[in-house]
Amino acid sequence: MVDKLNRPLKDLRISVIDQCNFRCSYCMPKELFGADHVFLPESELLSFDEITRVARSFASLGVEKIRITGGEPLLRKNLPELIQRLTYIEGIRDIALTTNGIFLPKQAEALKEAGLNRINLSLDAIEDRVFREVNGRGVKISPVLKGIEAARNSGLTVKVNMVVKKGMNEDQLLPMARYFKGGGVVLRFIEFMDVGNSNGWDLDHVLTKKQILNSIHNEMPLVPAEPNYYGEVADRYYYEDGEGEIGIISSVTDSFCSTCTRARISADGMLYHCLFASDGYSIKNLLRKDALSDEALTGVIRKKWSHRNDRYSDERKDGVPAKKKIEMSYIGG
Ligand code: GTP
Ligand code: 5AD
Ligand code: SF4
Ligand code: SF4
Repeated sequence: MVDKLNRPLKDLRISVIDQCNFRCSYCMPKELFGADHVFLPESELLSFDEITRVARSFASLGVEKIRITGGEPLLRKNLPELIQRLTYIEGIRDIALTTNGIFLPKQAEALKEAGLNRINLSLDAIEDRVFREVNGRGVKISPVLKGIEAARNSGLTVKVNMVVKKGMNEDQLLPMARYFKGGGVVLRFIEFMDVGNSNGWDLDHVLTKKQILNSIHNEMPLVPAEPNYYGEVADRYYYEDGEGEIGIISSVTDSFCSTCTRARISADGMLYHCLFASDGYSIKNLLRKDALSDEALTGVIRKKWSHRNDRYSDERKDGVPAKKKIEMSYIGG
């Protein structure tokens, strides 16, 4: 099954909660997500029954990989139970989680036992001074490093995501690369993106893939590597000296829409076909209708995918449209 641009449906990203214990300036700036911000009540989140049902439907249409996101997904109660239920779905061969890592020391073991394969953990600096500022909550590095350690000790594969934003943390680029080089954790650098409408994005704040690459290559020579799978968002590079690899995710200066195989379910139960979409389709309302058959649910998802023609990041080159977009805390990346 392919969309209008001949792209197969392979991955499902599910946001399980819109809350987060951090207030990263590029995602949930504390000025806009203050004490009076209203998060979704539990009844507005999809239940585990609903998520499992939707995931089964997607799997029947070719989805092989599920990524759980948030907000911060480990704030969702009993998450290992959901992971376990997803592992039973025929066709799903990879279940991953994107997290800020703070709750991993408590939860990594249970997540691994439940069947989680991998973790991508967000960390934007290796110096407390910078990190405390970035996460908006004054949290130091050490609890995050403990989270990485807990995940690895439980047998989970770990990658680290670093959003690079000029004026925020570009001085952390080389220190981060040096820190993780040779340690068995893949570090990926992400160009600052114009997700949502509240992160104050502008092109001047983007450190480009080229700049990131040059900066690291000058000190620690790199060689390009093949993608691990069709449609991988990160471009991979090995360190020439054999000490592991890095990745660069360049949605702004080198977009990858032509191989985008991802559908997304937001925390409030909407189906989106692009991270930068304006309008979604309420899967939640559909699921909560009486007597919806599995066939009907799958039929809707199939039809929606067959009409898909999103390619926001490719189009961004022609100028950024002033349009309402879903916020990162709802769609999870
Ligand atoms: P892997 O399965 O390990 O390859 O993970 P991933 O890179 O697909 O997922 P992750 O949640 O770690 O996302 C890393 C970064 O890529 C985040 O900033 C996401 O917002 C971004 N990203 C993921 N998918 C897309 C996409 O389809 N379009 C754009 N523009 N960015 C994406
Ligand atoms: N640009 C790039 N990456 C972002 N993320 C969150 N907001 C942005 C943004 N504006 C990253 C997080 C996390 C992943 C889900 O998306 O750091 O690693
Ligand atoms: Fe929370 Fe991740 Fe957003 Fe930071 S980037 S505010 S950790 S969801
Ligand atoms: Fe896919 Fe939209 Fe990202 Fe392009 S911008 S890769 S279509 S999610």
